[in-house]
Amino acid sequence: MCGIIGYLGERPATPIIMESLKRLEYRGYDSAGVAILNEDAHHTSVVKSASKVDTLIERLQEDMPTGHLGIGHTRWATHGRPTVINAHPHTDCTGKVMVIHNGIIENFAELRRDLEQRGHVFVSETDTEVVPHLIEENFRGDLVGAVRAALAKLRGTYAMAIFSQHDPDLLIGARLNAPLVVGIGEKEWFIASDITAIIPYTKKVLLIGEGEMVSVTPLGPEVSTLAGTAVKPKIIEVKWDVAQAQKGGYVHFMAKEINEASETVSNALRGRLSDEGEVTFEDFALTDRQLLKIRDIKMVAAGTSYYAALLGKYIIEDLARVPVEVEPASEFRYRQPIIDENTLVLGISQSGETADTLAAIREARRLGAKVISITNVVGSSMALESDGVIYLHAGPEIGVASTKTFVAHIACLYLLGIRIAAVRHRIPPERLRELTAALKQLPGAVHDVLESAPAIQELARTYARYQNFMYMGRGINYPIALEGALKLKEISYLHAEGYAAGELKHGPIALLDKGFPVFAIATASQTLEKMVSNIQEVLARDAPVVALVSRGSQVLQGMTVDALEVPAVSEFLSPIPNVVALQLFAYFVAAERGCNVDQPRNLAKSVTVE
Ligand code: F6R
Repeated sequence: MCGIIGYLGERPATPIIMESLKRLEYRGYDSAGVAILNEDAHHTSVVKSASKVDTLIERLQEDMPTGHLGIGHTRWATHGRPTVINAHPHTDCTGKVMVIHNGIIENFAELRRDLEQRGHVFVSETDTEVVPHLIEENFRGDLVGAVRAALAKLRGTYAMAIFSQHDPDLLIGARLNAPLVVGIGEKEWFIASDITAIIPYTKKVLLIGEGEMVSVTPLGPEVSTLAGTAVKPKIIEVKWDVAQAQKGGYVHFMAKEINEASETVSNALRGRLSDEGEVTFEDFALTDRQLLKIRDIKMVAAGTSYYAALLGKYIIEDLARVPVEVEPASEFRYRQPIIDENTLVLGISQSGETADTLAAIREARRLGAKVISITNVVGSSMALESDGVIYLHAGPEIGVASTKTFVAHIACLYLLGIRIAAVRHRIPPERLRELTAALKQLPGAVHDVLESAPAIQELARTYARYQNFMYMGRGINYPIALEGALKLKEISYLHAEGYAAGELKHGPIALLDKGFPVFAIATASQTLEKMVSNIQEVLARDAPVVALVSRGSQVLQGMTVDALEVPAVSEFLSPIPNVVALQLFAYFVAAERGCNVDQPRNLAKSVTVE
């Protein structure tokens, strides 16, 4: 969703805000704006653009506002189209109070009506604009008090950064169900939606808790609840570095991130899997006794993370023989799920901020379940609100479409499966030895897939002209078919569906003809013969077939298919190398079609609204 950055410090604010907005653009990119309090503190420069951050930057470079306090915003529109007027920051009738916001003010219509009746003049269609007017109305010389009073009137979700000409040394942040962090530098402070925005400037991050506010002055930040009770600040040291959040010579972040897949698997396994197959997690929090008591597992997630969760079901049920249910978080949260203290709920989320998934784990905890989140972002809301966390250690992911974090989620789910299986004595020593050795070789297999990128690119060039695609997989590769289809559709805007191969004949096969290619995952598996029959059925309908096959496999010999070879690994571990091939295919098709791969239309990296 929207990206927020605020700066107060000794350096000129504008270049820092511009640079941070570029880093935040993956959160939303339909319009952008900044407000900088000028040196004299009597005037605020507001510059906005109805398109991407680059246009805003061009405008700022023509006439760069100078000042040491400012805020910037990149928008993913909810209320009101992406126009200059609707772009943030928003202000009050006096033009002195500046507000940027991520989230939704649900009662904005009634607040606006009341404010208008009292004479306030609104210019935008946004929900956010009520906030500066409410602050204006409550201001009696104390900006923090006015903000507190304004926030008390809001229903909904928000992360905000606020400043006013009334107090040139004060930057305020507040959050309720939307992420916000404070970066602490040398005589400078940053308020940001996430740490990616501020890693070039500082690694010291103050975590703002749910329902808290921060007032930053040259004396430093002070945290309090929205009601005004002082809160002890939680400060962490972030390990990500700047290079990880740069393209490093690649045309797109997505290409770079797919190419990091091998390293990603190594990082997810590092220090957690001994040669004997013992698994240890740093912040896991559950004891062996608690793990033994688990009767069932429920996994909640959204989008790509939901497909990772589906894979988790195959992995955990196979290894640990505990029943696992997987549900989109958006459904789970409103369904009165049947869970109790013997249920383990796993929240799967790259960002740790997805509104539905966060709400789902909150509901699970309320019902007494133990919750473990598997996420990439240290200090994210889900990490803070779970009993334990498994971090992906994947480094920042900037491309809007998840790639390396999907791979990292699967790697972590193998580890978790082993951990639960070991406690329950469900995994025979021989299988554990083999699996451990094979997992440690997985980065090599992924590296091999990445080496075959030119062949995948060539094939993608041929297939980029089609409008429709069907992906089919079986068993543990069924979720990979779903993910392959999602990756293609979200970045290339082509229609793609994923199916369990055995299901094709129950309806979707009616779609197939020579203009509707099928991508079949036909790597070594116990159901490979069935998959070969499914491919025959597809070919009999004249549909072109691309098939992922294990290196050296002869199963498709004599059939007219475009085969892509991937290294031969066990069926159980094949999802990781297979998905990397599918990610590359989707990437090359989208790039061939000239799509904006890193920032697909209508999407945002972190979905903090329902
Ligand atoms: C697709 C994609 C999304 C996310 C989904 C959940 O490539 O990235 O489908 O997977 O929005 O996000 P997280 O994992 O942050 O909860």
